[in-house]
Amino acid sequence: MEKYINLAVAKGRLADTAVKALGGMGISFDDYTSSSRKLIHIDHKSGVRLVLVKADDVPTYVEQGAADVGIVGKDTLMESMASVYEMMDLEFGKCKFVVAALKDRVENKQKKSYVATKYVNVAKEFFKSKGKSVEIIKLNGSVELAPLVGLADTIVDIVETGTTLKENGLVIVEEICPVSARLIVNKASLKTKGDIIENMIQQLCPNQKERKTDL
Ligand code: PRP
Repeated sequence: MEKYINLAVAKGRLADTAVKALGGMGISFDDYTSSSRKLIHIDHKSGVRLVLVKADDVPTYVEQGAADVGIVGKDTLMESMASVYEMMDLEFGKCKFVVAALKDRVENKQKKSYVATKYVNVAKEFFKSKGKSVEIIKLNGSVELAPLVGLADTIVDIVETGTTLKENGLVIVEEICPVSARLIVNKASLKTKGDIIENMIQQLCPNQKERKTDL
């Protein structure tokens, strides 16, 4: 029987924080550094195998069972259609989803509004809930550029420090929702490796009551 827990974590900022949090509960990956290009790190003592993947791919790895557990931002999770359990708010990687526009933009309600974003599903859902008809333009990054070159009127994106918006002359028009890192679990793994997963959750968030959401 497979003894190891496969944990998929989004590469980058979130991975650094996640590795620190895991270190605090005695799970350490000796060969992990922020700049390392190695994609799998193993802690034989605890039986945790850390798999570093692109943020957008974390829900896919977990849904398919290639990873039992995943740590990923709520932004990615909201955009993903993966069928997984969202178990805990890990309360790090905090930022927020916003609608932003050029500081001096004057809205023309007669004209169709164009929204640039990496998060097409989130943007669609948000504007639908507002009863607003918009045209969504899918981009893969640096969406702040879109209003500057006339590609879009507004953007839907995540904001952490606000530096990117500020340095590009954009302001927040509306806040959509807060975002933070979430622990997600493969549905079958919760049955077959339930004890180890529950234990991991307890140690990661000792003060938080577990609340499982079926996505
Ligand atoms: C994210 C986001 C913003 C930026 C916000 O981009 O899409 O561009 O961070 O952070 P700030 O408020 O602290 O400035 P990321 O760095 O992931 O790169 P990307 O634009 O290529 O997706």
